[in-house]
Amino acid sequence: MNIFTVTLNTCFDLTLTVDTLSFDDVNRVSKELRQAGGKGIHVGKVAGRLGCDVSCWALLGEENRADFMNLLDELEPPLQVVPCKGRTRENLTIRYLNQTLKINRDGFLAGRKELSCLFDLLKVNITHGDIVAVSGSLPRGCTLENAAEFLENVKSSGALLAVDCDAVTSSVLGRVKPWVIKPNIHEFHKLTGLSIPDEPEESDLVKIKNAALEIRFGGTENVLVSLGTGGLLAVGKKTVLAKPPKVDVKSTVGAGDSALAGYIAGLAAGKSFARRAALACACGTATAMLEGTLLCSSEEAQEILSRVELKEL
Ligand SMILES: Nc1ncnc2c1ncn2[C@@H]1O[C@H](COP(=O)(O)OP(=O)(O)OP(=O)(O)O)[C@@H](O)[C@H]1O
Ligand SMILES: [Mg+2]
Repeated sequence: MNIFTVTLNTCFDLTLTVDTLSFDDVNRVSKELRQAGGKGIHVGKVAGRLGCDVSCWALLGEENRADFMNLLDELEPPLQVVPCKGRTRENLTIRYLNQTLKINRDGFLAGRKELSCLFDLLKVNITHGDIVAVSGSLPRGCTLENAAEFLENVKSSGALLAVDCDAVTSSVLGRVKPWVIKPNIHEFHKLTGLSIPDEPEESDLVKIKNAALEIRFGGTENVLVSLGTGGLLAVGKKTVLAKPPKVDVKSTVGAGDSALAGYIAGLAAGKSFARRAALACACGTATAMLEGTLLCSSEEAQEILSRVELKEL
């Protein structure tokens, strides 16, 4: 089984640590990390570390394409790219003491033409039963309709479609009927209107389960609601809560992408639904323990996995 990840809105992740943060003074950077990123690339990296056969695909700004490719060290095979007019954007994360300020720039322009070009390249590689994970925001110029059409095309190619895009609405989900979606609590609120507290109690979990079942009735096969510290509520044929151990959290950036990678790698390894949910939770938590946009290794995820609690709901 081959895994394909798709990033429609790639970016450079620039993490700057400052010792002062003042509007009236110059703030000097004490530490700097610059990575070539994008949510699908995160999913691909973690799935690859977990032993999957992965290739990552992306739309990329043509003006700074070489710079981006030079920074991508780990990917094998290399990133498959559809070049787009303009520059790949930079997302800035400014770390000051234990606070984080995030500023996301606008990047290249892409629409129907670029997406259908990406699909044409992708489809010749897909065999029935492969997994395609589409993650992240939509680039400038790309409408929800363009994205829906792309997702429908991927689905009709016979692949199992995983979607982690906050722009995707419940009506698009009803049209596309993905194999799995992985909203966090804010995205789930946007999809269903359900407000979830940061630390959900049993009664909240039942409400989440019922709202996720509605989405299932609409055709989405599995709904993984990631709850940050609370772990992951996986709603498929069964409903399972995977609860992580208490850990020292450094940065939750990429935790959700790692969780999706864990779920996918779990399927590729023939694990049961509950075991996939546990691995997803473990990967998310293992990544949350690392600085900046660093992503977990297989060993780090396995160590957490042995301490994940599973409960059927
Ligand atoms: N503070 C935390 N403590 C323990 N585990 C965490 C924490 N935050 C996240 N996780 C783990 O990571 C998973 C995904 O986290 P989260 O809900 O934050 O995803 P997300 O908001 O989609 O992240 P992103 O989109 O930045 O990758 C959770 O299901 C949980 O297993
Ligand atoms: Mg996310």
